[in-house]
Amino acid sequence: MSSTGRISERIASIAESATLAVDAKAKALKAAGRPVIGFGAGEPDFPTPDYIVDAAVDAARQPRFHRYSPAGGLPELKKAIAAKTLRDSGYAVDPAQVLVTNGGKQAVYESFATLLNPGDEVLVPTPYWTTYPEAIRLAGGVPVEVFAGPERGYLVSVEQLEAARTEATKVLLFVSPSNPTGAVYPAEQVAEIGRWAAENGLWVVTDEIYEHLTYDGVPFTSIATAAPELGDKVVVLNGVAKTYAMTGWRVGWMIAAADVIKAATNLQSHLSSNVSNVSQMAALAAVSGPLTAVDEMKQAFDRRRRAMVSALNSIDGVECPMPEGAFYAYADVRGLLGREFPGKDGPVRPQTSAELAALILDTVEVAVVPGEAFGPSGYLRLSYALGDDDLATGMERLQDFLGKGR
Ligand SMILES: Cc1ncc(COP(=O)(O)O)c(C=O)c1O
Repeated sequence: MSSTGRISERIASIAESATLAVDAKAKALKAAGRPVIGFGAGEPDFPTPDYIVDAAVDAARQPRFHRYSPAGGLPELKKAIAAKTLRDSGYAVDPAQVLVTNGGKQAVYESFATLLNPGDEVLVPTPYWTTYPEAIRLAGGVPVEVFAGPERGYLVSVEQLEAARTEATKVLLFVSPSNPTGAVYPAEQVAEIGRWAAENGLWVVTDEIYEHLTYDGVPFTSIATAAPELGDKVVVLNGVAKTYAMTGWRVGWMIAAADVIKAATNLQSHLSSNVSNVSQMAALAAVSGPLTAVDEMKQAFDRRRRAMVSALNSIDGVECPMPEGAFYAYADVRGLLGREFPGKDGPVRPQTSAELAALILDTVEVAVVPGEAFGPSGYLRLSYALGDDDLATGMERLQDFLGKGR
C-alpha cells in the first residue's frame, strides 16, 4: 500500500543533524551582530595548509580534472590512501580496497548501506556521533545503544557489548578517538574488543577520522591491526577533514574487502559519482605530505583542552573527564539539572541538557551541543577547536552563569 504523506516515512523520520543545527544557529546570531561564542563546531579553526591549497589550484587549471573521473576515486589518490594507511596504522591494503567518498559522512552512510539487510542490528557505543544511528536506520538497520558514562571514561567494555549482542547483531561500530567524548581506547582494550567481535562473527566498522588527534602521548590504535583475527570483516572509515583542516573540501574514504568496495562503488556511481577532482587532488597532496600541520594544530588544541576542562570542572555540578583525543570535551551536567538559573524572563529550572543548552545560548550567548544529540540527556559537548581568546571568554560566561562553586 502506498503512503499518502508528502514526505516518505523513511526520510521524514530523519532528525536534523543537531550539531550542524547548533552551529548554524550560532553562526546566524553572530551574523546578526550578536557576540556569540560557538563551542558547537566540529571543525578545526585553522586554514588548510598552503601546499594543499596550491595542489587544488594546479588541478583546477588542468582540463582533465574538469571532466568526470572514475566514480570510486582517482587512481593516484586511492594508491596514496593505501600508502598512508600503511604508514599511519600499519594496515596493508590494496588500492582496489579503497573508495573515495564525499567526506567521511558519505563513507559512514555507504558502509551501512552496503553491509546491512533490514533488521540487522549494529552495536553503537554511546554517546555516539549523531550521524551514526540515522545512517544505520536509513540502511534498514537497527542501532543498539551501548552506553558508557564518565565513570568509565566513556569506554564500553566487552561485557557490555556481549550483553547487547543478539542473533541479529551484524556489525560493531567502533570509534576512537571518539566524537563526542574525546575518549581514546587503550591498545589492549581495542585488541580485546576486536577479538570478541571476531569470535562472534561480527563485522567492525571503525571510524578513524581523529587518528592523528591524541594528546599526552596517548597512542591511536587501529582495530584493523590490533585484532588481525577480524580478517576481512573490517571497514575502515577516514578522511582529510580533521587532520588537515579540510572540512569544507569533502574528501573521505572507506577501506574494506574488494567485494564490499565494489558494491559500495556501484552505489556511489548512482548516488554522486566521483568526488570533486579538485578536492581529490588537494587530498592527494594532504595524505602524501607531512604531518607537521596537524602537529602544530595539536599543540593549540592541547592548550585549549586543558583550559576548557579545568574551567568546566571549576563549576559546581559539572564533571568533565580529561579527553585524550579529538577536540571535544564531554561534560556531565546532571548536577545542574533542576537548579534555578536567571532566564531572560525570570527564573528557569532546566530539567534536561537540551533545555540547559537553550538557556545558555539565550542568556549568555554561548553555543554548546546538548547530550540529546549523542544519546542520553545530562551532558554537554563543547568543541575546543576555536581561538584561545574566544574560548576564555566563553568559559568565563559559563562560569559566571552556572556558578563558580569550587
Ligand atoms: C566521528 C566522525 N566521523 C566522521 C565525520 C565526518 O567528517 P566529514 O564528513 O567532514 O569528512 C565526523 C565529522 O564531524 C566525525 O566527527
